[in-house]
Formats: sequence, structure tokens, C-alpha cells
Amino acid sequence: MAHDRSEETTAPSVNTVEAEQTRRRKLEHIEICLREDVQCRRSPMFEHVHLIHKALPEVDRDSIDLTVNFLGLRASAPLIIAAMTGGHPDAMEINRKLAEAAEELRIPIGVGSQRAAVEDPTLEDTFRVVREVAPSVPVIANIGATHVDAAPAAVEMIEADILAIHLNPLQEAIQPEGDCNSVGMLDSIAAIVESVDVPVMVKETGAGISAQVAVALEEVGVAAVDVGGVGGTSWAAVEYYRALQENDEVKAQLGLDFWDWGFPRP
Ligand SMILES: Cc1cc2nc3c(=O)[nH]c(=O)nc-3n(C[C@H](O)[C@H](O)[C@H](O)COP(=O)(O)O)c2cc1C
Repeated sequence: MAHDRSEETTAPSVNTVEAEQTRRRKLEHIEICLREDVQCRRSPMFEHVHLIHKALPEVDRDSIDLTVNFLGLRASAPLIIAAMTGGHPDAMEINRKLAEAAEELRIPIGVGSQRAAVEDPTLEDTFRVVREVAPSVPVIANIGATHVDAAPAAVEMIEADILAIHLNPLQEAIQPEGDCNSVGMLDSIAAIVESVDVPVMVKETGAGISAQVAVALEEVGVAAVDVGGVGGTSWAAVEYYRALQENDEVKAQLGLDFWDWGFPRP
């Protein structure tokens, strides 16, 4: 059979295939979080905290000001809407609604990993919508620790005030297509800090950050850490469901075993 060269010219590039995989994965994550029980099963931290009632508070409630300085920017409360989504057309509506809430409440908001949009600019709108709808609050860009080259573009894409680098080794270990090589990651983070002109924060995605890791991050110029500890969404759980869909029994078992792994959130 004659070799069909037209196939060569129209075959998708490796980058296009990767971008498509990333897009599909993002959508699966949202669908699983909506459909399945992905909560950590350990009892919540606050169950163990008993606040002492004070019958004589001597405080004027209306004078309490929750405003905080968030990396040099103003936030009306010590709360942020952490990175969640973008990178798939269906994610745009979620980001729009989260941005409306952030703008109304005057609290910072992060977007999900922007790698997909750096690879495929047609997805940029799904992230840009956050800056458009929330022009007056701190907006946080998001990228993985190894995506050094993509960092400046991620910040520029949404005119971000801060860049967050996500750490998710537990998720990668359970994800069927996960990348389990984190050698040189601290150097990559240092390179990202050098490459952008906004403060860089590092966030975990549900398994926490130890004091030792926080100190190492501070030493390479990271301005803040979002501990992102155990207690809410379990990414081991999310990837457990994806492993089940892919008939990957070993990864599925890992997901069950590490469902509640990590440091509790403070
Ligand atoms: C559907 C979904 C997608 C997420 N995508 C990202 C992401 O792209 N980048 C990131 O840094 N964190 C991402 N996260 C993690 C959250 O920012 C947060 O760190 C994590 O869910 C733990 O917080 P929680 O216990 O309040 O859910 C995502 C969370 C959810 C639920």
C-alpha cells in the first residue's frame, strides 16, 4: 500500500495531543468532584478545637475589621478562592461565577493550572474571564513547578498580581498518567521566581506542606505558602476514580490507601 503522506502533514503534533489530554483530564476532574464522594475521611481539624465562651467580650462587633494585607495587596478577609479551573471551554462558566463572587466579596481568586492555555492559546479566554470579571481583587496565576518557560506567559495572560506554583506529588503518584519525577523541582521553582516580576506563592493541593519544605521554599525566594492540607478534597480520591475508569487496579488501590494522606490543614 502506498504511504499516505497527507496523513503525516495532518497528524496532530505531540504538543497538540498533550494539550488535548490535559483538557480532557481537567474536565474529568470537575465531573468526578461533582459526581463522586471525594472528601477526606479524617475527622475535620476544627472538631478538636474548643473555643472558650467569653461572657464579657468587651468588643464592638462593628469595629472588627477583617481586612488583610495579602502580599502587598488588599483583601477584605483572610480568605482566598483557591485555584480550581480553566483550560476547558466548560470551565469558563465556573471561573466567571467564582470571579463574580470574588469581586463582590473583595477577596483574592486563583485560576487553575494555565499550562493548557500556554500550549493552546484558544483556551486563554477560560482563564482571562477571571481578570475581566474581577478587576479590583488580587488575581493569582497558576502553573506547575516544572513549567518554568510558561510562567511569564501565565502571569501576563490574566494580568495576575501573584503567581502560584502548585505541588501535587501525591496526586501525580496515583494519576494513571502521572509524572513521578520531581528531581530538580526546587531549582525550577527558584528559576520561576527569577523569571516573573510578581510575588510567587507555592500551594499544595490537599496534602499539606511541612515546615521543612516551607523553609526550603522561602530560601529560594518564595513569598508565601498556601499549606493546602488534608481536610477537604482528597486528590488521591479523585485519581482513584480516574484509575478505576482506566482499569488501572494498582493505581486505584494506591488511591484508596492514600485517600487521607498528608498534614491536616492548620
Ligand atoms: C476541580 C478542582 C480542580 C483543581 N485544580 C487545581 C489546579 O489546576 N491548580 C491548583 O493549584 N489547584 C487545583 N485544585 C486544588 C485546590 O486549589 C485546593 O488546593 C485543593 O482542592 C484543596 O483544598 P480543599 O480541601 O478546600 O478542596 C483544584 C481543586 C478542585 C476541586
